[in-house]
Amino acid sequence: MEKKKIFAVYMIAVVLFTLSGCGQRVVDTQQIAKNEKIVIKFSHVVAENTPKGLAAERFAYLVRERTGGYVEVQVFPDSLLYKDGEEMQALKDGKVQMLAPATAKFSDIYPPWQVLDLPFAFPDIHSVHAFMDGPAGEELISGLKSNKLVGLAVWDNGFKQVTNGIRPLVKPEDFRGITFRVMNSQVLEDQFNTLGAYAVPMPFNAVFNALAWGNVDGEENTISNIYSKHFDRVQRYLTISNHSYLGYVVLANADFWNSLPAWVRKVLEETLAEVTQWERDKAAELNKEQLETMKKEGYLTIHELTATERLKWQRALSSVYDHLAQEIGSYWVDRIKMDQIKD
Ligand code: LMR
Repeated sequence: MEKKKIFAVYMIAVVLFTLSGCGQRVVDTQQIAKNEKIVIKFSHVVAENTPKGLAAERFAYLVRERTGGYVEVQVFPDSLLYKDGEEMQALKDGKVQMLAPATAKFSDIYPPWQVLDLPFAFPDIHSVHAFMDGPAGEELISGLKSNKLVGLAVWDNGFKQVTNGIRPLVKPEDFRGITFRVMNSQVLEDQFNTLGAYAVPMPFNAVFNALAWGNVDGEENTISNIYSKHFDRVQRYLTISNHSYLGYVVLANADFWNSLPAWVRKVLEETLAEVTQWERDKAAELNKEQLETMKKEGYLTIHELTATERLKWQRALSSVYDHLAQEIGSYWVDRIKMDQIKD
């Protein structure tokens, strides 16, 4: 298509964008040939019916609408394209342009991200948002720049719970001798090892089989991940512990991002900001709904920690903070503790 036509489509998009205040805008996508589109491959590792999966689809839909099809976000869920341990390299190599990895997966790239994995670091989701949407989150995100990554938004999944096939986990002693799959993060390994359990780092796509075949006895995850990947079918016990946060950073390859026309970056940023609000509400809603569904389906025996039990877990795990401070220095660990005191 000649330059004039591209300009005309762009102008239609801009006018509709401005007039309708980001509402529904319709641009004739038929006019844009495939080879003239900007294609953004957005890869992630979880199922489609999860907060991240649904938000990625919503982002793709809104971006297509708002650019008249000029920008096409192609979403690849469920580790279809790249798995944990592969996707970050694929992003750096420009094989995909966007990802939304769990923050635990940044521990190699920028170790301070591990503070988010500390057990009982946040009493509730509002304190997570205050931390991540403020100067601390900004500082963590800017730590990714040296790897040519641009952090664009922080999406929630929620708080993690623990499942296993051996026994109900009520007291810290109940963890002894049980093997748990963890994401690739030293803090998470330390958390289980401190309780006398064994931590086995493993990519997300391998967890179901590992649980089903008994290669590990248990795992920690959000309700939405447990439910959407059917971990409840291959586990016996679930403890609602809300012991730590699992969230994502929506990332782009910096070279790709900087090569985009400024108006496209603006549409993407504004759409992402809107989808982030939607995603956070959706995450809370899905985790609540899917817990109710799991209760009804009855595959798992569910125990909800009481305040006293929670305090015992918290005390048993306090040395994990000291270990992380030894690894990365006390700046970030003190900072997260300060946040707890404020609350
Ligand atoms: C996990 O590996 O357990 C999670 O990070 C998966 C995800 O992206 O939510």
